[in-house]
Amino acid sequence: MEATTKQEPAYLGLLNAISNGESAAGIYLEAWADVTPNPDLACTLRLVAARERSHGDVFCRRISELGFCLEKKVDPRSAEQLAKLSNPNISDLEKIGDRSENSAVTDFFADTRRKIAEGEYDPMTANLLTWYIAEEIDSGRRLKEAYDCVREMSGGKKTSAPAGPSADAEAIMACMTTGFSKLEKSLEKLVKASR
Ligand SMILES: [Fe+2]
Repeated sequence: MEATTKQEPAYLGLLNAISNGESAAGIYLEAWADVTPNPDLACTLRLVAARERSHGDVFCRRISELGFCLEKKVDPRSAEQLAKLSNPNISDLEKIGDRSENSAVTDFFADTRRKIAEGEYDPMTANLLTWYIAEEIDSGRRLKEAYDCVREMSGGKKTSAPAGPSADAEAIMACMTTGFSKLEKSLEKLVKASR
């Protein structure tokens, strides 16, 4: 990853994980938007997908600005995830599964905000993370509303589909592989819940 003799910032792995995770989430959500019969859900999915792609690009750019290169990583579960979300024969309800706000993501945002306040990041990266977190929270709220509508339209029917980690959780889980030990406990719970 290192392109120069510059000292690597401790948070380079985080920026890398966010960029990879967000870019992947953008692909999943757009693929789902392309096949859903629900125009309102499609609209929300496209908006959030555009944000995710943008987060993927901007964090890749930030890594370059710091003098390094994005290390592309493919999540081994991405093919399965994409196959499910792009399948028009799988209902939206089943795709939504038990997706909901999860504590690992909330903890990650709180932890990152604390580190921003403590001056752990350079000023531009801190700005970027602040903007990113605000958009993620807003995207989460919009997705929740859209998912609740789908659930309501289906008469509050419980889905038998296993809980899948949300697109945002995907990005956070990617951080685990880069050694975010503080998050490991909550992430372990998240992974278990998704099985
Ligand atoms: Fe995201």
